[in-house]
This record gives sequence, C-alpha cells and structure tokens, in this order.
Amino acid sequence: MSGKFITLEGGEGAGKSTALAFIAQEIRNHGIELILTREPGGTPLGEKLRELLLDYKNDLMCDDTELLLMFAARAQHLAQVIEPALQSDQWVLCDRFTDATYAYQGGGRGIDLQRIAQLEQWVQGDRRPDLTLLLDVPVEIGLHRITTRQETQGQRDRFERERSSFFDKVRQTYLGRARQYPQQYRIIDASQSLDAVQQQLQQVLSAYINQNTFT
Ligand SMILES: Nc1ncnc2c1ncn2[C@@H]1O[C@H](COP(=O)(O)OP(=O)(O)O)[C@@H](O)[C@H]1O
Ligand SMILES: [Mg+2]
Repeated sequence: MSGKFITLEGGEGAGKSTALAFIAQEIRNHGIELILTREPGGTPLGEKLRELLLDYKNDLMCDDTELLLMFAARAQHLAQVIEPALQSDQWVLCDRFTDATYAYQGGGRGIDLQRIAQLEQWVQGDRRPDLTLLLDVPVEIGLHRITTRQETQGQRDRFERERSSFFDKVRQTYLGRARQYPQQYRIIDASQSLDAVQQQLQQVLSAYINQNTFT
C-alpha cells in the first residue's frame, strides 16, 4: 500500500492556499496521515529556486530557463519529500504540481507541450497525481482577489505581473487537461463564496476517501 498524491491547481487568486488547510483537515478527520507541501518549492533548495522564479526583478528569464528551474525544483521535491512520504503510506497534498507547468509554461508561455511531457517522464517516471482539485475561477475574479491580498503581501510576483491574456490561456489549458484526464481531475467552481467552495471540496474529498481507504 502507498499513500495518495493529491494536488491543488488553479490560476492566481483562485483560493488554493486558502483551501489548503481546510482540505488537510478533511483528510486528517478520516484518520489519514498527511503532509502539506507546495511547488515550486517544498525543500530548502526548491524554495531558493522558487525565489528566483517569482522575483519580478528576474524579468529577463527566458522561457526554457523558467521551465527547467521548475523541473529542477520538482526533482528535488520528489526525491526528498514526496516519494518518501508516499512510500511510507502518508498522503501528500501539494499546492501546484506539473499540471501548473502545462498551464503556465505550456499554455501561458507557449512552450511545446511535448517538451513538457518529456521532462515530466524524465523527472517523475510514472509518478502522477492520484487526484487533482482544480479551483476554477474567471480570470478577472482571481486577479481582483490578488489585488486585495497584495495589500498584505507587498509586490506582485513575476507571474502575477502577467497580462490577462496570459491567464486566459492558463485557465483554458487547465480546463482542457481536466477534460482530457477526468479520472484525475475534479473541477471546483471557485468563483463562489468560501463556504460554498468548502462544501464542494468536502463532497469531492469524502467520495474520494471512501473509494480509496479500507475502513
Ligand atoms: N471563495 C473565495 N471568495 C472570496 N475570496 C476568496 C475566496 N477564496 C480565497 N479568497 C481570497 O482571495 C485571495 C487569494 O486567495 P489565495 O488562497 O491566496 O489564492 P491562490 O493561492 O490560489 O493564489 C485571498 O485574499 C483569499 O482570502
Ligand atoms: Mg497560493
């Protein structure tokens, strides 16, 4: 037996980081051991790469550099955190993973999806998320939410400075992947109130946990 690998995806301001603690509580309520992590990042080395990736002063970073740094951080994260946890029967809940690379570096930046698939195979082997919760929200709503969050967190990062056409492509790529991998994906309507979003999450999670545990 091994743990389940659950990822949380969606555009800027969809509510991923907000949903993380709620999702974790739901899973732990079922007596499941769970670790929380995020990408890019999740290890000390990966968090340093995250800083480079998000720093708006790195505006000359080329698209391939961005893609390769994402996968460099991911290789470290898998080796140091994700694989050991799954192999010791813990579940892993990760704020963004490779689906975000397809959406941002593929959809947003326009890098050939086949290239991303090659790196995915190289770095991950057969490892894929067991369940991906896509928090889907119209771009304008998400961007409005981060302008309110910005007051507490300061400057917008290198991705948050992109134009809304970039985020439209990100959203459409996520939705396309959700249609392509219906077994993996559950789409959550994240434009609703926090309460309503949590209700949707609770339904999806209890159905998933009931199917995947022996209790
Ligand atoms: N369903 C919701 N309705 C209204 N505001 C929300 C909702 N979910 C999150 N927020 C707020 O939107 C902002 C962005 O949320 P956050 O979780 O940081 O998004 P993400 O991690 O997906 O970028 C935060 O200020 C958060 O409090
Ligand atoms: Mg977040």
